[in-house]
Amino acid sequence: MDHAPQLIQERSAPPATLVIFGASGDLTRRKLLPAVENLARHGRLPDQFALVGVARTPMSDDQFAESALGGRSLAEKRQLSGGIRYVAGGYDDPETYKRLAETLDELDAVRGTSGNRLFYLSTPAGAFEPVINGLAGAGLNQAREGSFSRLVIEKPYGRDLATARELDGIVHGAFEEHQVFRIDHYLGKDTVQNVLALRFANSIFQPIWDRSWVDHVQITVAETLGVGTRGGFYENAGAMRDIVQNHVLQVLALALMEPPASFEAEGLRNEKVKLLQAIRLPTDRDVSEAAVRGQYTRGGTREELMAGYREEVGVDPLSRTETYAAMRLNVDNWRWAGVPFYVRTGKRLPARLTEVALQFQRPPHLPIPTDQLTGLEADALILRIQPNEGISLRFGAKVPGHSFRVRTASMDFSYDQTFVEESPEAYERLLLDALIGDASLFIRSDEVQQCWRIVDPIIENWEKDNSPIPTYEAASWGPTDADRLIGRNGRKWRNAS
Ligand SMILES: NC(=O)c1ccc[n+]([C@@H]2O[C@H](COP(=O)([O-])OP(=O)(O)OC[C@H]3O[C@@H](n4cnc5c(N)ncnc54)[C@H](OP(=O)(O)O)[C@@H]3O)[C@@H](O)[C@H]2O)c1
Repeated sequence: MDHAPQLIQERSAPPATLVIFGASGDLTRRKLLPAVENLARHGRLPDQFALVGVARTPMSDDQFAESALGGRSLAEKRQLSGGIRYVAGGYDDPETYKRLAETLDELDAVRGTSGNRLFYLSTPAGAFEPVINGLAGAGLNQAREGSFSRLVIEKPYGRDLATARELDGIVHGAFEEHQVFRIDHYLGKDTVQNVLALRFANSIFQPIWDRSWVDHVQITVAETLGVGTRGGFYENAGAMRDIVQNHVLQVLALALMEPPASFEAEGLRNEKVKLLQAIRLPTDRDVSEAAVRGQYTRGGTREELMAGYREEVGVDPLSRTETYAAMRLNVDNWRWAGVPFYVRTGKRLPARLTEVALQFQRPPHLPIPTDQLTGLEADALILRIQPNEGISLRFGAKVPGHSFRVRTASMDFSYDQTFVEESPEAYERLLLDALIGDASLFIRSDEVQQCWRIVDPIIENWEKDNSPIPTYEAASWGPTDADRLIGRNGRKWRNAS
């Protein structure tokens, strides 16, 4: 059953066992175990909580408990480690699941975890199928009367529409959709959820949130880092699959969808799906006008020279994988018809930032001589998702003095300065939601498919295209083609200095 989101301060998990597959991996170490630790520290986990790690790497219960409980006091460790187990075994070995089932039964008996199980797939995608089949083979996909069995799946969810559907077939062969929680950690960020608060907890923004007022919208997810040690993984992904298909389209859906009747999971996700369905795909002929890719080359400064993508570890020296992607999208509905949406993401850009910027139309007539408008830009509302989390409203204001000069000014709301409460880490929020059974911030099967429907034709077109991939120097704002993409209608990217 779904629950509307409540304040995290008021929520805590029911008795349950969290089972992490891929427990020896990077995500478990860097995000999942710290999230469990924080939930425990904040009193969100009951005494009847248990944690089981599963992976091939040999480890004892104590070694896994030590990695999970690093920063805790000895007394706390003693209390908690009674509920921590590790099952070593192959993902396609039925024995692994037999031992897992025995461990879960034992934990139900000694910890009172009530038969509630949350299975978290934190392995590379290639292991999703054997784990799901293994769970089903041991009957762990089915909850006992009054208990739950849920599956959390990491991204990537397929690598195109066809493989996402195949994966859905495997998932739905064992679990019903209401048991499945597809994760996009962006949705766990307070600032992404604040898009919902801004739009739907206020009345003043709704009237201007449409084609009559908005000239265009820009969504940027910019990273300063290159691929680092993830070159091998990135070669099979690229910017479109790694960031646009999930994070960018999720943020876009929240920013543009119609108001849901409530934040209950199905209502909220129905509105996101309707918005995604209304996105018009570029025809074959105009893909090159609607989308741009790029790959970073060596760049930076003499002091900080950065390698080009093709020089990175694990990357093919002739690689054609894009590290930058930009798109112009159109939403064919009453609210947005005719408004262009520009989205872009890239690695090795000059700033790390994620933002949604609504740029409003210019006034129809300015009763001020143009020489008195020093650098007056169009009004804009900027939702900063990271860093410097907050919102800015940009508008024209009179410059103090005897003449009537107008310049751009802004009103700024900053999370840091306004609230004393700390934001929970995205994974902390999402783990708690999954334990509670609140699917509002997880991606439904039809949503994933819609997102692939949008990016697939562009990726296919790029894969067919043999011309040299456009490049951009590391620490620059992407290929010049991207400026042409937005500049075709006299607009330009908001490039932070
Ligand atoms: N790391 C991140 O920041 C991040 C962010 C977003 C999403 N994700 C997603 O989260 C999942 C886990 O990410 P991760 O970075 O933790 O992955 P990882 O470290 O490469 O793998 C996690 C564990 O999975 C097991 N495994 C199973 N099949 C494997 C295979 N074919 N190759 C390598 N390891 C295999 C390994 O454990 P054993 O050998 O002990 O079995 C490994 O320790 C992935 O689906 C990833 O796309 C990760």
